[in-house]
Amino acid sequence: MSETPEQITKIAKLFDAISDSYDNAGVDFFQPIASDLVNALNPSSGESWLDIGCGRGAVAENVATILGANGSLLGFDISARMIENAKTMAARHNLTNVDLFVDDAQNPTKISGEFDAISSCLVLFFLPDPLAALKNWRPFLKSTGRIGVTTFGENDPRWRQVDQLFDAHLPTEMLDARASGIKGPFASDQGMESLMRDAGYGEVRTVTSLLPVKFQNISKWYDFSWSTGQRAMWLRVPQEERPVLRAKAEALLSNYLESDGSFILNQELRHTLALK
Ligand SMILES: C[S@@+](CC[C@H](N)C(=O)[O-])C[C@H]1O[C@@H](n2cnc3c(N)ncnc32)[C@H](O)[C@@H]1O
Repeated sequence: MSETPEQITKIAKLFDAISDSYDNAGVDFFQPIASDLVNALNPSSGESWLDIGCGRGAVAENVATILGANGSLLGFDISARMIENAKTMAARHNLTNVDLFVDDAQNPTKISGEFDAISSCLVLFFLPDPLAALKNWRPFLKSTGRIGVTTFGENDPRWRQVDQLFDAHLPTEMLDARASGIKGPFASDQGMESLMRDAGYGEVRTVTSLLPVKFQNISKWYDFSWSTGQRAMWLRVPQEERPVLRAKAEALLSNYLESDGSFILNQELRHTLALK
């Protein structure tokens, strides 16, 4: 990968570092979200799929068996470590119809052909130019093809309270509309739908879902937060100040503890669906 823009290289490094604990921190988060997206796209046996920003293969794990021996899934990610972990997952489940490799979702260079479906789960907001990326993906769909893109919905005030503890440490680019979801295309169903229409897709619609994310105890939240994109926020906090921030976050979250010491944070999801 020559001439990869700095922002993309940084994100590749971030996800390389996260990858071993990603979706592996004892909290059900990425698998159920991918499962929702797959259901919304209603896969059939024999179809060809392209999963953009596949991570450790949450979508592949949900859909590959349905696609079956006559179907196939290509998945790619900018993080080489994510791809290694996704390959391990595919081998463990004997998913012989899955092919995984490194490529850039902003401007993929290794894809040819047309697919029945494109999925991209929790990826678009990491890209430098989401509209241009969506335009770049459109030629990879058959004329009857469909696309589903998952982004986050409205923030649970409980998540928001905790996220706000990081705000003082974050540069503007991490507080901007795309990252925080407060404004811009990622702030509403309509914003995402317009982005898809502007990229040339038709029959755009939104399916939303609500995931109650259960943490067995307070320290699960801390481990989980380092295993997701929130790691980038922790890295902005000077090391000596992290214990104080952690204590503040845990004090906030302890207001929501159930009698067994667990607690739930709700995550709204937005699946934006469209046809070519
Ligand atoms: C939150 S994870 C989602 C992964 C997976 N889709 C899932 O649902 O578990 C975001 C993923 O997007 C990938 N990503 C970010 N920027 C990318 C880019 N420019 N090209 C390809 N993948 C990218 C990251 O490496 C990471 O694996």
